[in-house]
Amino acid sequence: MYKLLIRPLFFLFDPEKIHHFTFSTIRFFNKLPFVSGIIKSLYKVDNKQLERDLFGLKFKNPVGLAAGFDKDAKLFNELSNFGFGFIEIGTLTPKPQDGNPKKRLFRLQSDSAIINRMGFNNGGVEAAVERLKKNKGVLIGGNIGKNKVTPNEEAVEDYKICFEALFDYVDYFVVNVSSPNTPNLRELQDKEPLTKLLNTLKEENNTMSLRAESRSPKPILLKIAPDLTDSQLLDIIDIVSVTQIDGVIATNTTISRDGLTSANKTEMGGLSGKPLTNRSTEVIRFLSEKSNKAFPIIGVGGIHSVADALEKFEAGADLIQLYTGFIYEGPKLIKDINKALLNN
Ligand SMILES: Cc1cc2nc3c(=O)[nH]c(=O)nc-3n(C[C@H](O)[C@H](O)[C@H](O)COP(=O)(O)O)c2cc1C
Repeated sequence: MYKLLIRPLFFLFDPEKIHHFTFSTIRFFNKLPFVSGIIKSLYKVDNKQLERDLFGLKFKNPVGLAAGFDKDAKLFNELSNFGFGFIEIGTLTPKPQDGNPKKRLFRLQSDSAIINRMGFNNGGVEAAVERLKKNKGVLIGGNIGKNKVTPNEEAVEDYKICFEALFDYVDYFVVNVSSPNTPNLRELQDKEPLTKLLNTLKEENNTMSLRAESRSPKPILLKIAPDLTDSQLLDIIDIVSVTQIDGVIATNTTISRDGLTSANKTEMGGLSGKPLTNRSTEVIRFLSEKSNKAFPIIGVGGIHSVADALEKFEAGADLIQLYTGFIYEGPKLIKDINKALLNN
């Protein structure tokens, strides 16, 4: 039904407008009696065998929604009804910001891909916190970044502000230094600034966890780009070991344009979807093998089928996330992956 009716209709319209329209529609229908129950019964797969214990958290299943879809934490309760085991909100920045000028989101249909140069458009961390207070039990990742106007030398402060604000309202943190759409952000992936950033957040984590109302530190993960070289990936393994953070999310969108056929391929921004599948799996495999499975990995990038998902797990992912595959394949993909995991 999704691929036959809904997707062809949605794909007639501007991608960003349809994204907001879909949000309003999902919110509206979930308010009607019985609808959220019906959606759950259609898509959720509840089974103990799907549960994963990772970083001291219990995930109901290993299929999550990737960052960027619900940046402002506006729809996580409703989206979880589609069967996601966890939802990552963000990237959030300390102050609200508009992001890049529109048009900034492009479908590459013949490539089953998306190019985006949103540029961390979000309503700021404080507004998101207010909405997170209404969480009905969804496991939430908080993906944090810096404002565009903050120079890299002061970036640590931005991450700290977001970390403190979200501490009581998210289950794990993701440090995003890999978006190609904030100028120079990816330079923070270099060994020295990254070690400093992660060490500061680890300290902050300890301080926050010693407060009376909180009990333990929150897991901190690093989200990396698929465009890092092997030597940069080896640096990442080193940095995870030195800073003792809890894991890595591989990968964000790519700046590569290899093998694309769509007219939109020349648009600036980060590429996601099928053209990213193999590279992101390669990065996961590299990290897993070269580190001897020293830390958990959340695999993301171009998962459009059950086979893509199983390949990510086989390469070393402990959990996976979807974004572009969710748009192209619809919510049934989540259920199909979870069912396949049960049969495996
Ligand atoms: C429109 C769009 C916006 C995104 N925004 C963010 C973001 O704010 N923060 C982030 O860490 N990743 C963001 N991503 C990257 C996704 O979380 C994911 O890492 C990437 O798209 C690869 O997965 P996919 O091929 O399943 O889409 C965004 C992706 C898209 C398509």
